[in-house]
Amino acid sequence: MRPIIPDYLAEVLGDVEPDASGEPAGYIPELATADTKYLGAAFAMLDGEVYGSGDIDIEFTIQSISKPFVYALALSDRGFDSVLAKVGVEPSGEAFNEISLESDTGRPLNPMINAGAITVHSLAGAEDLDPAGRVERVLRGLSAFAGRRLKMDEAVYASEIEHAHRNLAIAHMLRSHDILTGDARTVVDGYTRQCSVLVTARDLAMMAATLANRGMNPLSGEQVVPEAVVRQVLSVMFSCGMYDAAGDWGTQVGIPAKSGVAGGLIGALPGQVGIATFSPRLDVHGNSVRGVSLFERFSSDMGLHVMEVPPAALAVLRSNHVVGSGPNALRVLELQGGIGFAGAERVVKEAVDNPPSEVKVALDLTRVYSIDDVARRMLLEIARRLTLSGHDVYLVDPESIMKDPDPGDGGRVTVVDSVDQAAIPMGAVQ
Ligand code: DON
Repeated sequence: MRPIIPDYLAEVLGDVEPDASGEPAGYIPELATADTKYLGAAFAMLDGEVYGSGDIDIEFTIQSISKPFVYALALSDRGFDSVLAKVGVEPSGEAFNEISLESDTGRPLNPMINAGAITVHSLAGAEDLDPAGRVERVLRGLSAFAGRRLKMDEAVYASEIEHAHRNLAIAHMLRSHDILTGDARTVVDGYTRQCSVLVTARDLAMMAATLANRGMNPLSGEQVVPEAVVRQVLSVMFSCGMYDAAGDWGTQVGIPAKSGVAGGLIGALPGQVGIATFSPRLDVHGNSVRGVSLFERFSSDMGLHVMEVPPAALAVLRSNHVVGSGPNALRVLELQGGIGFAGAERVVKEAVDNPPSEVKVALDLTRVYSIDDVARRMLLEIARRLTLSGHDVYLVDPESIMKDPDPGDGGRVTVVDSVDQAAIPMGAVQ
């Protein structure tokens, strides 16, 4: 069978292809002369599979798409407190190169605008690194997200640094507020090198997939940054990643995202997929025109908006029935699916509203594929309270889905492989 996803991607690329609106970034010749016909889209799944269509192996500079990844490196290298003391997490609602600083502290509003990203660059790696060491830390970190060694485009770097007047102005403002403590020009130099790293849409999709996969690169298996860092980064991408278009993006597309002036655009859908598109013409916000259209299509065609309401937790309780009769009757609460807080609440409610009259009660987890920590604690508390009110409680758990099934504090459960085992009359020989 032909793979389905590349065919779908090719169809959507075909639909947006005729749109020639927008202009490539014009502030340096290397970007202004970019080939505007390039168009590609890639999906990286969390098992490392990549589906793509169009120009997904053409290299271009990462630019601002480096920002969330270097923010992740700084958070893991220096800790949350040190980074938050220097860079906030509030959307600025302004352009990416606006000097958006808090009026009293001089702290940049967020790490996705240039003021924040320049500061974040200075926080990557250990404090005592020299500038070259810091750039190497950034390059190594970005490479770990991509799962291959990346390199820099020296021509783009040289041209950018020649035209970096605005970023230098921002950096000097940051230095005057002591947000930057080192030489402002050196930090801009490092940040400009960071923006000049070459990637393909395939790389970017894998980098986004690493975020979607809780910080573990799906190809290399390397845990690039801790889970808590990923949550922080995705949250900031959601509220600030698309600059002054973040509100429209958040409502219409609803995927944590980041754009770059070379035409790249990424989205990371937690637990599902990393997406990247490449098309150099930009809109007034500095976001790729056809990239935005592609993401709008992906989100609506496939229901990828993160605020899409998940299937009702009601479905967690598959049935509530009795097996056998008389003193050996077994009350079975048959559960299914993945259980989180709301699903576990459904089971608690059932046990409270319809208290079992049978002595033997089983929670049947045979059709359950995951139980998160809060659900685990709630289900064990049901078991504990049932024990205390005189029930014999069974956990039907043939695949040991429930970790450490000990309710503690007077509770007791007997773990069995099947409902039949729990239903066997007490004292009967099998
Ligand atoms: O800092 C700059 O101006 C560029 N090197 C990167 C800006 C960028 O990619 C903005 N994103 N759309």
